[in-house]
Amino acid sequence: MKKIDGVPFYRQSFGRAEIVEVTDTIKSGWVTTGKKAMLLENKIAEYVNVKHAAAVNSCTAAMHLLLTASGISKGDEVVTTPYTFAATSEVILYTGAKPVYCDINYDSLNIDAETAAKKISKKTRAILPVHIAGLPVHMDGFVKLAKISKAKLFDDAAHAIGAEYKGKKIGSIGDGSAFSFYATKNLTTGEGGMVTTKNAKLAKKIKMLSLHAMSKGAWKRYAKGGTWRYDLLDLGYKYNLSDLAASLGLAQFEKFERFQKLRERACLRYIKNLSDTPDIKTPLIESESKHAWHLFMIRLQLNQLKINRNEFIHELNQKNIGTSVHFIPLFLQSFYRTHLKLNRKDFPNADKAFKEVITLPLFPDIKNNEIDYVCDVISAICKKYRR
Ligand SMILES: Cc1ncc(COP(=O)(O)O)c(C=O)c1O
Repeated sequence: MKKIDGVPFYRQSFGRAEIVEVTDTIKSGWVTTGKKAMLLENKIAEYVNVKHAAAVNSCTAAMHLLLTASGISKGDEVVTTPYTFAATSEVILYTGAKPVYCDINYDSLNIDAETAAKKISKKTRAILPVHIAGLPVHMDGFVKLAKISKAKLFDDAAHAIGAEYKGKKIGSIGDGSAFSFYATKNLTTGEGGMVTTKNAKLAKKIKMLSLHAMSKGAWKRYAKGGTWRYDLLDLGYKYNLSDLAASLGLAQFEKFERFQKLRERACLRYIKNLSDTPDIKTPLIESESKHAWHLFMIRLQLNQLKINRNEFIHELNQKNIGTSVHFIPLFLQSFYRTHLKLNRKDFPNADKAFKEVITLPLFPDIKNNEIDYVCDVISAICKKYRR
């Protein structure tokens, strides 16, 4: 096998099928939202086993629309996690509502219903957990909590397409879910996202709001038999997904189950290889759920090492291994510290976990020798810096 001297953090898995599908859209002359976006909606709805899906241009848009279409606004509160990407919190702030943060479970990096329950108040209108890295949140507890507190349960499923909780696909459990089809996600449209929901009324409203709240989108106005007149029914947004983007997603969707198996295979190889490196903890796997394996995040056992996480990453970089850190918690970010007065002392688990995490290269066609190279380098760093 060819000797390698580095592994990128991410490599796209695009092939002929993507080129054919996108070319077909270009040749059709219809590149904005139309039948390909609708086809992707149908495929995703069927895949996660819900009746309704709304294609949008990001997961951020999907979450914003879930909240807005549910009437969440100033004076309301939404319980969520500080251990996430900016988007999860931004969308709450866009609506004028107040995000209320609860600390994560140290092992899973997800929030759980027991901790979230302590943050519920009379003003709570929604709960917005995140399936970090693709490990499903314990949805049962959240379904109960949402029912008791009469709040909506929406989930940030940016990492979780393909994940399952107790036999149900993520995207089919709460009141509505938001997926990301960003460039590096398990299924990509370049930029894109999708809402899935069982609620027909909510789906209809989200579709309407996603295109300026027009009574008729371009497809219904300019496609054969369409008419020019429309009405603006509400204050809308420009969040629609183009057919050009959707066609990339359609090609990716055909390969999705194979991609998921390849991701799982890669993660299991990482786990096996790293099992005799005692300074590294591999990701939690739970028997009641199916991991989407969006990210492969290791945890350093810092008390056993003489270097910290940042120095560890530097060592990996020296060997041309691309890495990332998911996530810099919001309580460490200027805006959230200054304007929302978030304090790390209130989130000891998230604060501790952040110092330990490193995300390793993971993509469907990562080769066995690339995984072995990463693991050998990790093992050598650990040996060198072991206490
Ligand atoms: C947890 C989480 N939520 C939301 C998003 C936002 O996704 P998008 O870029 O599709 O808006 C991301 C992006 O990576 C994410 O990691």
